[in-house]
Amino acid sequence: MEEQARPVRYSQTTITELMIPSYANFGGKIHGGILLSLMDKVAYATASKHAGTYCVTVTVDKVEFLQPVEVGELVSMHASVNYVGRTSLVVGIRVESQNVKTGKIKHTNSSFFTMVAKGDDDKPSVVPTLILENKEDVKRFIEAMRIKEIKNAMRVQMDDAHSHIEVENASEVLKDQRCKIEFS
Ligand SMILES: CC(C)(COP(=O)(O)OP(=O)(O)OC[C@H]1O[C@@H](n2cnc3c(N)ncnc32)[C@H](O)[C@@H]1OP(=O)(O)O)[C@@H](O)C(=O)NCCC(=O)NCCS
Repeated sequence: MEEQARPVRYSQTTITELMIPSYANFGGKIHGGILLSLMDKVAYATASKHAGTYCVTVTVDKVEFLQPVEVGELVSMHASVNYVGRTSLVVGIRVESQNVKTGKIKHTNSSFFTMVAKGDDDKPSVVPTLILENKEDVKRFIEAMRIKEIKNAMRVQMDDAHSHIEVENASEVLKDQRCKIEFS
């Protein structure tokens, strides 16, 4: 049977939502959690469309809110599948916020969601190959592939760091940090 393949454009998705007052925090800016929830929705829609099955979120990378979003702005999330593994996909999301009166658009962040496709048996299922139709598609695929390699290496180092913490040497290790050790 021929392997199923879909181009990036097949699943590209944009959602736009007006930022209403109930989304704001005490400082009058939009809660990060509202934006994260919208990002999760668009990542889900994009990944599921490519996979042709339901997907779950496994990891979220590079979430940095570089500029605040104001009440009354129109937030758009542009998402596309940047990379596919065997059962996982990386969805890149560009978040932009537009002032409806001036038309000015600001780029608030770009993030990456790793999703895994699930079959009817709730087990990871193989996703279609990704067809890269232009240089941008190729660039994003290679970038995601490299980030995956870096993350895998970092995960090993983090596990190592976690298992080699010597609490006995803490006063030396923490001497320049803004904390106090006060065991009772
Ligand atoms: C995601 C999940 C299916 C992975 O299960 P698993 O038993 O580790 O499955 P596998 O080892 O077969 O891995 C499946 C894929 O996930 C990827 N994966 C697993 N853990 C990962 C991690 N921490 N980061 C990135 N990718 C990961 C694997 O690399 C593999 O991808 P590939 O097939 O493209 O190579 C499972 O952990 C799960 O169901 N998690 C809950 C997800 C969820 O409910 N999300 C919503 C919560 S808000």
